[in-house]
Amino acid sequence: MSARRFDVIVIGSGAAGLTAALNLAQQFKVAVLAKGKLGGGATEWAQGGIAAVLEEEDSFEAHVRDTMIAGAGLNDREVVEYVVSKAPAAIARLAELGVPFNLDEDGDWHLTREGGHSHRRIVHVNDATGWAVAQALENAAEAHPNITLVPDMVAIDLVTGRHTKEFSTEGTVHGVYAYNRSSGEVDTLLAKATVLATGGAGRAYLFSTAPRGATGDGIAMAWRAGCRVSNMEFMQFHPTCLYNLEVKNFLITEAVRGEGGILRHPETGHRFMPDYDERAELAPRDIVARAIDAEIKRDGLDYVHLDIAHKGEEFVKHHFPTIYEKLIGLGIDITAEPIPVVPAQHYTCGGVLVDIHGATDAPGLYAAGEVTQSGLHGANRLASNSLLECFVFGDAAAEHIRANWDGFADIPDVRPWDESRVTDSDEEVVIQQVWGEIRRFMWNFVGIVRTTKRLERAQRRIDMLRQEVADYYGAFRVTPDLIELRNLLEVADLIVRSALHRHESRGLHFILDYPETEKDAVDTVLAP
Ligand code: FAD
Ligand code: SIN
Repeated sequence: MSARRFDVIVIGSGAAGLTAALNLAQQFKVAVLAKGKLGGGATEWAQGGIAAVLEEEDSFEAHVRDTMIAGAGLNDREVVEYVVSKAPAAIARLAELGVPFNLDEDGDWHLTREGGHSHRRIVHVNDATGWAVAQALENAAEAHPNITLVPDMVAIDLVTGRHTKEFSTEGTVHGVYAYNRSSGEVDTLLAKATVLATGGAGRAYLFSTAPRGATGDGIAMAWRAGCRVSNMEFMQFHPTCLYNLEVKNFLITEAVRGEGGILRHPETGHRFMPDYDERAELAPRDIVARAIDAEIKRDGLDYVHLDIAHKGEEFVKHHFPTIYEKLIGLGIDITAEPIPVVPAQHYTCGGVLVDIHGATDAPGLYAAGEVTQSGLHGANRLASNSLLECFVFGDAAAEHIRANWDGFADIPDVRPWDESRVTDSDEEVVIQQVWGEIRRFMWNFVGIVRTTKRLERAQRRIDMLRQEVADYYGAFRVTPDLIELRNLLEVADLIVRSALHRHESRGLHFILDYPETEKDAVDTVLAP
């Protein structure tokens, strides 16, 4: 098939990708790719809301301070200040697009509170904020004549000089090769600028609140294209994922604790968080997750209890209608009984290194949202700062592309995808097996509490699987599962190498061999 050409290709249709696309479409023809349906990323699943300073008693300074405290000093202050200052305008734009944010009786924003925030500053749509935001962005994108939405298109690798007919080792990105689920073929999609907005890598872990597609594709693609990747050791574990043998990845929003939810030992009923931190249930989530992990490991528990029933039926149903409905369907009435919860992987703080404009190391390649390490989150993301990052950086990348358009390279002649030396796989079972192995050893050896010995065990397994996956990839035609597996292994490697590199405990990286925090906060930066 001949190559399809656009001005800009955005890979990812979540909050970051659609924000960038809507801005770029004012001037350019934009294609937005999604590897499944449009709303298949983490954005639709966001519950709590979006952090923004929206009332006089709050201040940008306080939001910056809270972000940096949670980030354990590793944040880039300039980026934090930039993002925080852009938050009110981002919320206003979403409201204009039709996001029905909750208001109080006076018509002011209804703001909730979450862990690590010194003020109520989370604007939300009940407990299903992400869904409402995604609908508004998708509707606007669908209606835009300059945007072509391309679902079911699984990006495989970025097109660089190595893929051109001339061949060069020059690192400019000219688009992407992608597996088209409808035709089963690999398409070549070319553009002068490409924006990666592919979300996180949570599915590298056995238990994760992230959607099935969070396999770190963008991080792995950028790495293979020559971009640096940073701070991958900082994997965020959300303290309260529902413990249920059927439903394995349903989040119980931090706003439940923000509204008075209490964590208790399931056997004694003891409220244990004050034993760990004076901020109790509202300590930053790395502290709460480690406390729950410690209770579970010490007493051999399956879960701990999160109790909001004392707030009364009307309050609970009003504030958390989605969680109430979901759990009543599973036989748990949260207005009358506690919720069994466990920590689970939730957010990828590290990623493709970008500057304040969302530019990566590769000319022509930008990135925004969870796929990046922008300097905002540091060693631990403050709750509800990530959707905000998507809106601010999606916009920043688009603005920079528009301002620098004349400097982008013309699209060269590119070789089509070559399938001449591969056949259809006759042992798909290998993919499932390796996929399961990775997720299990990442959970057991590279989880909430780490040791050098466990990290080295994980590294040895990765080294062994690398050859196996490379052989498989070299021999067989690509499928979506194979594409994801190859990426999952790449990001597992980046996580473990980054974790082994950091000889201190800071934020989300807690390692028993190095329990102290060093005086100077230094990013981990891996170069291909
Ligand atoms: P996503 O929304 O994850 O979108 C990724 C997109 O990339 C998808 O369209 C996907 O199809 C596409 N993609 C991926 N790989 C490929 C590929 N190979 N080819 C083509 N397309 C590809 N944050 C908050 O700020 N507030 C919250 O309340 C909140 N709650 C959360 C609740 C849950 C359960 C989870 C999991 C996360 C939550 N977060 C929250 C985090 C936040 O939702 C995410 O960080 C954010 O939505 C990421 O947006 P994104 O645009 O970067 O990526
Ligand atoms: C939550 O609602 O607890 C998730 C918020 C977030 O991840 O920012």
